[in-house]
Amino acid sequence: MKTIFSGIQPSGIITLGNYLGALKQFVELQQDYRCYFCIVNQHAITVPQEPAQLRQNIRRLAALYLAAGLDPQQVTLFVQSEVPAHAKLGWIMMCTAYVGELERMTQYKDKSQGRGEAIPGGLLVYPPLMTADILLYDTDFVPVGDDQKQHLELTRDLAERFNRRYGPLFQVPEIRIPRSGARIMSLQEPTKKMSKSDPNPGGYIGLLDEPDTIVKKIKRAQTDSDNIIRYDREQKPGISNLLSIYSSLSGKALEQIEQEYSGKGYGSLKSDLAELVVQALAPLQQRYHELIDSQELDQILDQGAARANEAANRKLLEVEQVMGLSRKSF
Ligand code: AMP
Ligand code: TRP
Repeated sequence: MKTIFSGIQPSGIITLGNYLGALKQFVELQQDYRCYFCIVNQHAITVPQEPAQLRQNIRRLAALYLAAGLDPQQVTLFVQSEVPAHAKLGWIMMCTAYVGELERMTQYKDKSQGRGEAIPGGLLVYPPLMTADILLYDTDFVPVGDDQKQHLELTRDLAERFNRRYGPLFQVPEIRIPRSGARIMSLQEPTKKMSKSDPNPGGYIGLLDEPDTIVKKIKRAQTDSDNIIRYDREQKPGISNLLSIYSSLSGKALEQIEQEYSGKGYGSLKSDLAELVVQALAPLQQRYHELIDSQELDQILDQGAARANEAANRKLLEVEQVMGLSRKSF
């Protein structure tokens, strides 16, 4: 069985974009792959976090993963900081990486902008920690959005650099960009990605939004004014985005939806879509509320950490042995 690893930061609200672009696909992959899903809390602290908020976000994210349909018997779901091998191999990968290549990362350039002298060091060395996350589990595939492509390329470079020096210890992982149509756009500015960091909550649907809120947000979604329901990302980004969401949730092809709505107005598409989103999220929300304050959630994360520690420590020991860090040789 091939291995998949992916990580999500516990920072803020999870959106319908995250669900359709990531979570829902993870659920589909869990039967066919050995899956590790990591709540990357150590990545989250590369920018300042409020402690109570961070603690709550870790729990929320775990509950959402499970509520979306991940089966804790099939997948290993765990919190990064509970598996110390990540930080240890992270340090080794920082020593493997070059400052020049880290400074070239576009996410580093974006996030360090406007901070003057006060750029946290973690922002620069974030990619080698991500590399460590992935390499610890002999990962074959990493399903992430295309914004992570550069980090994945660096991961491959670092794995190959290490392997050339010490022997072929690391599996060189491949990126898996979710299939097309999985890029959900903002409801208010449909040329921009739906994002949890959008200052306008009207732009995104949170997975925990109340039905009323969902209906309101979809009714207010920006569209053009020609009132023809047709998929055209260039000319009609608003309607196309609603059609993509409809298609992802219903499993119907875009052409079929276009046909069903031919001659109908935007209002009818919006009210049906709102209903579809509310129906799709209802079981997820119910399961989330059952889990969030439960001991079951803690048990699942404890068990996940135990399994991840076992695999990660085995790999880390090999690495420390070939490098001469360990008193024992490989
Ligand atoms: P992020 O919220 O940027 O940490 O992303 C977490 C995961 O959700 C990544 O795999 C992203 O590709 C995916 N994702 C985030 N926003 C969207 C979106 N608007 N449409 C599709 N996928 C998304
Ligand atoms: N950098 C990723 C993001 O911001 C999160 C992440 C951390 C990750 N470690 C990972 C993703 C390992 C995939 C594999 O979205």
